[in-house]
Formats: sequence, C-alpha cells, structure tokens
Amino acid sequence: MGKDVIIACDFSGKDEVLNFLDRFDKESLFVKIGMELYYAEGPDIVREIKARGHRIFLDLKLHDIPNTVKKAMAVLSRLDIDMCNLHAAGTVPMMEAALEGLTRPDGTRPLLIAVTQLTSTNQERMTSDLMIDRPIDTVVMHYALCAKTAGLDGVVCSPLEAEKVHSVCGKGFLTVTPGVRFEGGDVGDQKRVTTPKRAKELGSDYIVVGRPITAAEDPAKAYRRCVAEFVDQ
Ligand code: C5P
Repeated sequence: MGKDVIIACDFSGKDEVLNFLDRFDKESLFVKIGMELYYAEGPDIVREIKARGHRIFLDLKLHDIPNTVKKAMAVLSRLDIDMCNLHAAGTVPMMEAALEGLTRPDGTRPLLIAVTQLTSTNQERMTSDLMIDRPIDTVVMHYALCAKTAGLDGVVCSPLEAEKVHSVCGKGFLTVTPGVRFEGGDVGDQKRVTTPKRAKELGSDYIVVGRPITAAEDPAKAYRRCVAEFVDQ
C-alpha cells in the first residue's frame, strides 16, 4: 500500500471546497470530507468531488447497532468512496457488519478504518465517564487489535502511535495519522504534532493534513511540500 497525503477539507459548504480544489492543477488528490461538509451538502458533494477525479475519505465515524451500520455502509459504498471509518467502541460484531455492508456486489469495497479513542478523550474522562480504568495506551492498542480481528484495514491514530500499532497489529495494518505540521508551523489546537518527514520515519501510511494546506497562501505548494517530505523522499 503506497503512502499518501490526505487533505482534510474542513469547509462548511460546497462553494468553499470547490474554490479550494480549483487552486490545484489537474492533480488527483485524496480528500477527506467530514461531518460538517457532508451534513451541509449531502451525498452530492461526494459525487461532485469524485467526478473531478479525486479520491475520497468520508470521515463520518459511524457507531450504532450492527444492522444499522451495515445498511448505512452499503449506502456509502454506492457513493464510490475510497475510505471511510467507524468507532471501534461499536464492538467487533458491529465492525464485521460494517465490512459486510461496505462490500459491493463485485467484491470490491472502500478501505475501512477505526477510531480507537478520540484524541479529545483523556485518561481522566475515559475513567470517570466511560468507566474504563485501564491505561489509555492499552485501550487504544486493544481497540486496534479488535479492529484487526474484525477484518478492518487500519486505524486513525497519532503518528507517534504508528510504530506501536504496527508492532501489535502488523505492518500491513494501516495507520492514518492527523496531527501533522511543517517544521515551525502554526500548531493551532493540535497538541502532539509531527512533521510529514517525521511521520514517514515513524511509519505512518497516510497523513491527514488540514490547515497547513487549506490555510496556506498557496495550498498547492503546501501540498507538494507534504508529498515531497512524506512520499517522495
Ligand atoms: O487542520 P488539521 O491539520 O489540524 O486537521 C486535522 C484533521 O484531522 C481534522 O479534520 C481533524 O478533525 C482530524 N482529526 C484529528 N485528530 C484525530 C482524528 C481526526 O485531528 N484524532
């Protein structure tokens, strides 16, 4: 599986995202569409971006009973997306049902990756609110292993966790990693960040990069810098 840069298109509407994409040459990009844009514009925004030749990571983080997730995944799969995700907290049967729903009649399917614990959840909240009293690292690795057991392709995690995920779940289990900034770049609300170059050294398979590209004066140039550091070198 080749390494790639996924651009987090965290825009609130169609015009904004299409204007942003217009600033790239005829490059085929890997674009992440999140809840905000999807709920604002519906499935048409996926079709429109796909029709421009881009690949899509639909970041909707499904979590419901297995039957509901299976049916929802079948609908998403018909949108011809390339990657989507769910919460591993939905349990192994839910993840297995999701895979079943996602598989198209011809046997192909988008990549399916799991969120383990959200990065907004800390040890204290996990213990007090979720009543999980193991160390958060142990929980993250256990959820990753459950995702692998269910047949999923990988997890979303920090680049700093990529190495450990690979050692627990195997090299072929994908790590999709946000929290990436250029050397000396604005960190914003991200806490633990790494550069594209460091993410590559740590073994990330895909980096998810938002503001360092979307807020750049020249997004295409910032994107090419990510590719140069993460993919080409
Ligand atoms: O702008 P920035 O590069 O921080 O964007 C990172 C993207 O990755 C955002 O869409 C954010 O929601 C997503 N993300 C994250 N941390 C996670 C999971 C997803 O930053 N643990």
